[in-house]
Amino acid sequence: MVNKEFTPWYFQPEIAKVYESFYEGKYKDADIQEKNLLKFLIDQIDDVNEILEVGCGTGHFTRWLNSLGYNVVGADISPVMLGVAKELWTDGKFVNAKAEFLPFKDKSFDVVLYVACLEYMPDLVKVFQEAERVARKGIVMGLMNKWSLPTIRRIIQVKLGKNPYYCNARFYSLLTIKRKLRQALEGKNYEFLDWRCAVFPRVFRVRGLLKIPFGGSFLGFGVKFK
Ligand SMILES: C[S@@+](CC[C@H](N)C(=O)[O-])C[C@H]1O[C@@H](n2cnc3c(N)ncnc32)[C@H](O)[C@@H]1O
Repeated sequence: MVNKEFTPWYFQPEIAKVYESFYEGKYKDADIQEKNLLKFLIDQIDDVNEILEVGCGTGHFTRWLNSLGYNVVGADISPVMLGVAKELWTDGKFVNAKAEFLPFKDKSFDVVLYVACLEYMPDLVKVFQEAERVARKGIVMGLMNKWSLPTIRRIIQVKLGKNPYYCNARFYSLLTIKRKLRQALEGKNYEFLDWRCAVFPRVFRVRGLLKIPFGGSFLGFGVKFK
């Protein structure tokens, strides 16, 4: 049965207002590791200058990319998340748009980037086809790794009705992402980037960007076009 009352958290102004505070709290260290992984991936693509960050939310990573010297545009489906993004970076370029239908001409950016948002996009093949249309050089993504304890915990919480943030989310593994990319890019000339996982639980006593497909809660992957 469809719940007509359901409004995803990212359309709720009171949640959008406090969203950035998560990065200052317990996710501060994870944030550093996630940025290291995203930079590691972007650096595998030659001469990246212009980046479109799809699902940019409050612009946390958009501002970071700007601070690294990239020309960046943020796009997001949620006007309330973008409202905060514009307050935090008044000169930033932000566009209200859906990942599946981007309002940009073909090959407008070097790279299309996604951070922690593919989970909310049910039709990944359509999303990646749209990224391929607007990107000249490649696609980069960081997402919650399905094969990790924090994600498994979230799946259980959702099943118990205890986590409203992920009740409309899907969690992907490296294998699923590869399959979706192959489907989306069929007939195109591309190669996969060198993937890594980051943000391993402390009990694992490992840190950094590791080529282990399970354990790390943040999976970084992408493609570059030939
Ligand atoms: C967890 S937030 C991530 C925001 C930002 N990337 C970050 O990591 O701080 C997920 C974002 O995806 C956006 N989103 C969900 N579905 C989308 C879609 N189909 N097209 C564009 N943005 C979408 C939401 O509005 C939300 O801002």
